[in-house]
Amino acid sequence: MSDHILEMHSITKTFPGVKALQDVTLNVERGEIHAICGENGAGKSTLMKVLSGVYPAGTYDGDIVFDGEKVEFGSINDSEDKGIVIIHQELALVPFLSVAENIFLGNERSARGLIDWNKANSDAAALLARVGLDELPVTPVGQLGVGKQQLVEIAKALSKRVKLLILDEPTAALNDSDSEHLLGLLRQLQEQGITSIMISHKLGEIASIADSTTIIRDGRTIETLDMRGGGVTQERIIKGMVGRELDQRYPDHVANVGDEVLRVEDWTVHHPTQPGRVVVDGASLNVRAGEIVGIAGLMGAGRTELAMSLFGRSYGRDISGKVFLRGKEIRTRTVSEAIGHGIAYATEDRKKYGLNLIEDIRRNVSAASLDKLSQGGWVNGNEEVKVAEDYRREMNIKAPTVMALAGKLSGGNQQKVVLSKWIHTDPDVLILDEPTRGIDVGAKYEIYTIINRLADEGKAVIVISSELPELLGICDRIYTLSAGRITGVLPSSEATQESLMELMTKERDHVR
Ligand SMILES: Nc1ncnc2c1ncn2[C@@H]1O[C@H](COP(=O)(O)OP(=O)(O)OP(=O)(O)O)[C@@H](O)[C@H]1O
Ligand SMILES: [Mg+2]
Repeated sequence: MSDHILEMHSITKTFPGVKALQDVTLNVERGEIHAICGENGAGKSTLMKVLSGVYPAGTYDGDIVFDGEKVEFGSINDSEDKGIVIIHQELALVPFLSVAENIFLGNERSARGLIDWNKANSDAAALLARVGLDELPVTPVGQLGVGKQQLVEIAKALSKRVKLLILDEPTAALNDSDSEHLLGLLRQLQEQGITSIMISHKLGEIASIADSTTIIRDGRTIETLDMRGGGVTQERIIKGMVGRELDQRYPDHVANVGDEVLRVEDWTVHHPTQPGRVVVDGASLNVRAGEIVGIAGLMGAGRTELAMSLFGRSYGRDISGKVFLRGKEIRTRTVSEAIGHGIAYATEDRKKYGLNLIEDIRRNVSAASLDKLSQGGWVNGNEEVKVAEDYRREMNIKAPTVMALAGKLSGGNQQKVVLSKWIHTDPDVLILDEPTRGIDVGAKYEIYTIINRLADEGKAVIVISSELPELLGICDRIYTLSAGRITGVLPSSEATQESLMELMTKERDHVR
């Protein structure tokens, strides 16, 4: 007989104009790692918010049975009291507080009303050891990379005596080794009797770690697959998610490459606050019309710093080097100068740089190209709506209308709005930084198709991605970056993951 730690029966949740969940059932066995898969906007995050009391009892229909008892949570504190802890898609740590302060925030270690910092720090150290994090409890969280912040979140969960840990896309922003570490930790916690639910778009990960997988499509439960024994393939999961076989992950594309559009020579960028530190070191590269060029590099190699510094010096100081557009040297000292020269940069961090969450889809799409939509200082409102509607359809952005607030969209759909915004500037050079992070497999294919179309229109496209198969699948040429230096460039037809990896980890071969 199976022992369910959690049963969610017939959960239905509506938002104005959106039926996010309809009659969803989820059964999780005690001690297992249970994955939840589904397309962007399928309802995964919403289901977990219902479970954890973010959406309190009374705002949804259906029943939740946890640990043999029917529960009705009025808030997230209620669910935590029972041992359910959720780590959200967007991390919620406070950057300027220390690791220990973050761990015990709202759950302070106090003695007679005073916070006992010695106890807090020593308890924190013990928790950090449990998650394999080698940092001092007094380190400000903002100084840690995303991978480590993720571990602090888990340490925080452990401090609350978690029985059921929910992770919403925990590895979306992590590199391979941080992801490995995190998955290893989940397995360890499993041995200690902690049950986990993990949402992820990385199907390889799910295949390797999950005991079972529930698939949600359009707000309904499709099926729960037993992953033990390894009989379930990624293709099988995809079929459940999209409702049909997806025979190819990358669209076919024959590049029609023209003249050089962008050339960068000897580009050097220093760290914004540590003047002696070189982040990009004498990088030279070029991109031709119709060409899709990849940039591969490990975390910290300087990929984003290279892109952002080219985009109107929005990163770094003491920048030197030259940028040529169609053979003519250009100045790109500010973002608006860069946009004026037809350069666009779609950022990896959609919440920080890419989107205005309290504006609607329409305003976000038009934000970088208002000059094109206005006449005599007035924005043509009808045209603005029409343009946004076109992108909503083309990109398959899941929202009732373009008047929906960007902040209410699912993570993957926010990413599609960011892409629409930059594509609409009709740039000559489009730099895409992790364009498919958090995007489901089906929508990835749509985005690759759009990237191909932009190249076919004669644009020069640069794609930065941590997923080497993605670079190999869509790029014509791939540059490798290691410690701020370009260490090689290979036509994709000749490159392999191994050859790229070798160049990505190459030490500097000469002293400048
Ligand atoms: N607060 C809200 N107000 C209105 N609609 C919402 C709200 N939160 C979510 N939705 C809508 O509910 C649906 C499900 O969203 P949810 O965030 O659960 O998707 P998801 O499966 O987590 O997708 P992703 O993989 O992109 O993160 C989407 O159509 C979304 O726009
Ligand atoms: Mg989500």
